[in-house]
Amino acid sequence: MDVPLKISRDLLALAIDQSRDGITIADARLPGWPLIYVNAGFERLTGYVASELLGKSVRFLQGTDTDQPEINILREALRKEQSCVVTLRNYRRDGSMFWNELSLSSVHDTDGTLTHFIGIQNDVTARVTLDQHLRQSNQDLHALNQQLYRLAHTDPLVGISNRLHFEEQLGQMLKTAQRTHSLLSVLVVNLDLFKRFNNRYGRAAGDTCLRMVGDLITRSFARGADCVARYDNDEFAIVSMGGSIEGLQQHLHKLRSQVRALNIPHSDSPEGVVTICGGGISLIPQRDSTAQELLQRASAALLEAKRLGNDSENIVS
Ligand SMILES: Cc1cc2nc3c(=O)[nH]c(=O)nc-3n(C[C@H](O)[C@H](O)[C@H](O)COP(=O)(O)O)c2cc1C
Repeated sequence: MDVPLKISRDLLALAIDQSRDGITIADARLPGWPLIYVNAGFERLTGYVASELLGKSVRFLQGTDTDQPEINILREALRKEQSCVVTLRNYRRDGSMFWNELSLSSVHDTDGTLTHFIGIQNDVTARVTLDQHLRQSNQDLHALNQQLYRLAHTDPLVGISNRLHFEEQLGQMLKTAQRTHSLLSVLVVNLDLFKRFNNRYGRAAGDTCLRMVGDLITRSFARGADCVARYDNDEFAIVSMGGSIEGLQQHLHKLRSQVRALNIPHSDSPEGVVTICGGGISLIPQRDSTAQELLQRASAALLEAKRLGNDSENIVS
């Protein structure tokens, strides 16, 4: 069968009229670009009949909702006689909102003079709503992830970093210190005779005591470069970059006196109050130093401080 290569104008008109999409034609030579044609698809989409639309600008579909960024894109494209695709909030005859994906093209005559604009309109409400839900779900998921991360990296009792976070931070700070040849200090602080404190005063008092000392250490090492963590039951670890070994010694010294000044009674301790011991290292790490090794050396320094007695300190370089 021969396929006719040209289609008649009647067929063209029928095809446009019966298209599923909304199709509109506006006269570009008249002020306000009034509509001179709307197809049945556009009537179905908007709930208006052609007689209510012809002669008007389609802008009325926006109602009072004219503060939409995509309208500016549309305006600019129309001004430059270019084509564009925008998605706008439009309102049907019954007032209900729908997302209208409008594809606009300009029509020029044989002299190149702009004569008409053609708009093809589609209801994309389902797609936009789905996109919005997806975006919201993504945001919720992101927030949940952040919350999970915080939970996984926070000690629930004291509300500061936990061992996992500390080891991550120590690893990162070690790399930075190795790269920049900076001084890195790792400090381990431990409550003296804490087991006996717990036995005498009970778990709840023990928890309060840990919180008070933890708060104090956190406030004491509040610089951005420091990470303070509850490393083990009654043990806190601190990593800090920069500064000097003397500075760290003074810091630890002050911290010990601040803990004493908390005046938490501890009748099983010769000091009568809760005290801490602190041990640490302060050095410019070698290229092959590992976080594990630094922690071991800081723990060994703490053991040495403990050997000296309650309320002692020992920092090595
Ligand atoms: C052929 C044609 C179809 C259009 N169809 C729509 C439409 O479906 N929805 C809409 O909000 N705006 C449509 N517009 C755009 C508005 O009529 C108007 O040009 C736009 O809001 C920017 O002009 P303004 O600054 O006068 O509001 C169409 C414009 C033309 C020329």
